[in-house]
Amino acid sequence: MQATKRNMIDFNNLKFDFYETDWMFLSRYKDGKWDDGELIPFNSIELSPAACILNYGQGVFEGLKALKSKDRRISLFRPMKNAERFEKSAKRLVMPPYDKQRFLDAVKKVVIANKDFIPPYESGGSLYIRPLLIGSGPVLGIAPAKEYIFLVFCSPVGPYFPEGFNTVNLLISNKYTRASPGGTGSTKTCSNYSRTMRPALEGKKRGYDQIIYLDAVYKEYITEVGAANFCAIIDNKLVTPRFDGTILEGITVDSVLKIAERKLGITTEQRDISYKELFGDNCAELFCTGTAAVITPIGSITYEKRTKTYNNNIPGPITEKIYKILTGIQKLDLLDEFGWTMIL
Ligand SMILES: Cc1ncc(COP(=O)(O)O)c(C=O)c1O
Repeated sequence: MQATKRNMIDFNNLKFDFYETDWMFLSRYKDGKWDDGELIPFNSIELSPAACILNYGQGVFEGLKALKSKDRRISLFRPMKNAERFEKSAKRLVMPPYDKQRFLDAVKKVVIANKDFIPPYESGGSLYIRPLLIGSGPVLGIAPAKEYIFLVFCSPVGPYFPEGFNTVNLLISNKYTRASPGGTGSTKTCSNYSRTMRPALEGKKRGYDQIIYLDAVYKEYITEVGAANFCAIIDNKLVTPRFDGTILEGITVDSVLKIAERKLGITTEQRDISYKELFGDNCAELFCTGTAAVITPIGSITYEKRTKTYNNNIPGPITEKIYKILTGIQKLDLLDEFGWTMIL
């Protein structure tokens, strides 16, 4: 049998790494308008060394997943929310927005064309989809490009918890911040992520899985965890930081707030959370949320020389309930009464 990309992949041992698939979608913006775009074989793209993305980081992206259910149906989770956020991100960097319906059509085309790369239900994996918009036109002075490329590619990824639902140990940074008021924190720009690589590396070297970032003004209030939103159970309420323009408005955290209120009867609050509150006795559980992170329970936090461990470093009961409901809906194991899943 010929060694195709598909049969080189061991779906039961996938990590969150890039694996090439067969097809991608590409559309170009030139002379003030987008072309129709098309599905093409996955390949490298050519860029001028003067491309705006290479020199000034004019690029935004999205991340969503396609999943296979037990009966092999393929679903997406709230993809229109990604289309809306993509448009908001593009506008922040003065890029021509990509029509939301066409964004969704391109995502669907890529998933269907690469459907053999969607890991089976039993593996716990999914197909991660990456829509990307870059300023491809050449510039020298700092200004928006005149030409753009919209791309959608994908990669099969393994479950976030290959050994089961486990906790992570996080460091609250008193040194680095992720975003500041008036910046780009609430949009998914490429540059938001390169700046977190050094803090993450330094945290890893000290034995922490990720960094919790504080606000850039007071260095006191929790904002986010690397590439995930932050939630805490304080006084039996589910509390998450207020979207103040520095935080990415996660689709997962929005879903978690609705599940907590409507399915579990838990009161929710979006407000400023001082890191000091997390060390108090009435803070019982912490977790982070995101497309990649799904629901990741936080076992301990450290700030300077102080560490607090939650629930003996095992996932808390509310965190686990929310995880089961969210993933149950996403995998089509549970009835989706919210109308979140889109079957392809
Ligand atoms: C900085 C940041 N915060 C939060 C999230 C979670 O957002 P979502 O739940 O929409 O994936 C992500 C991931 O996309 C992220 O990159």
